[in-house]
Amino acid sequence: MNPILEVVSLKKYYPVRGGLLPGRRGFVQAVEDVSFTIAKGETLSIVGESGCGKSTVGRAVLRLTEPTEGQILLDGWRIDKIPVPQLRKLRRHMQVVFQDPFSSLSPRMTVRDIIAEPLVNFGLAKGRAEIDDRVAGLLDKVRLPRDAMRRLAHEFSGGQRQRICIARALAPSPALIICDEAVSALDVSFKAQIVNLLTDLQDELGLALLFISHDLAIVEHMTHRVAVMYLGSIVEIADRRSLFSRPSHPYSRALLSSVPAPDPTASRRRIVLTGEVPSPINPPSGCRFHTRCPYVFDRCRTEVPKLRARTEATYFGATQLAACHLDALPAL
Ligand SMILES: Nc1ncnc2c1ncn2[C@@H]1O[C@H](COP(=O)(O)OP(=O)(O)OP(=O)(O)O)[C@@H](O)[C@H]1O
Ligand SMILES: [Mg+2]
Repeated sequence: MNPILEVVSLKKYYPVRGGLLPGRRGFVQAVEDVSFTIAKGETLSIVGESGCGKSTVGRAVLRLTEPTEGQILLDGWRIDKIPVPQLRKLRRHMQVVFQDPFSSLSPRMTVRDIIAEPLVNFGLAKGRAEIDDRVAGLLDKVRLPRDAMRRLAHEFSGGQRQRICIARALAPSPALIICDEAVSALDVSFKAQIVNLLTDLQDELGLALLFISHDLAIVEHMTHRVAVMYLGSIVEIADRRSLFSRPSHPYSRALLSSVPAPDPTASRRRIVLTGEVPSPINPPSGCRFHTRCPYVFDRCRTEVPKLRARTEATYFGATQLAACHLDALPAL
């Protein structure tokens, strides 16, 4: 089956003042050679520490930022190349839910207006009665009462607001929804509710989800596959079970070691990495992780490791790729 989303060798460099030499322009190498696919009905999560490039990938897919290099295909259409008028039409098929989505909306808008906006913009419903009807149906889908329509968004709690945003995102019947830290600001119980709602909607509608989050406990609970990013690159990409039970990149192993195991008997040994994350303006040569890797050897300092299948790949009969020169991680 063809993927809904295909990202091929995506690179995003932001120009900045003050590179290595004074007066010279430098670049923040925010995303370096990132490739992945998402199938219909599938969730791929992107995880990693703050600044590793997660949101930049999401923004490039939405074409809110122009990629420096690479290809982005939505159901076969080149998002990165398509002229703006056609892009507007294609946008219908990919929607986004942010952490604080109401910051950009007028506080005077009613919930009805917020959810109706994409319906009107994409010409998907006409006339008051039809629009009200569609909005009511969308409120049902996100399990909010229909009388929410006439109220203002700020009257609602954080969790309810995210339901309103999900209703708005669903309005144009997209194939893909990008969630960028969509539940990160919510209390634990709301987080679980919103994530359950998203996965229920995914099953019902066959949605593809790109779930960007630094919250590994939530990701472990709901994703199909995970891409782990470090300093702009994917260091490991694998199905959930393989990654969380046997991470095969030294960075993934350290990152995941901080997540409490869902099964308390299978305690995870905490690995603390030393040193700071290097600057993306002047990232390390070779493997970008080599300055902090406990297993570094000469080759890592000069040669960029490519993603390749791990020996553990057959462990659960699923795919697990890591960008590491080691063939297998040493036992802890
Ligand atoms: N418009 C911009 N101009 C210059 N640099 C930028 C810009 N946007 C992001 N960056 C830089 O690009 C890198 C990646 O940022 P990005 O926001 O994608 O990270 P992130 O993984 O989403 O982080 P967080 O978890 O904090 O949301 C960071 O070093 C950031 O400072
Ligand atoms: Mg971000």
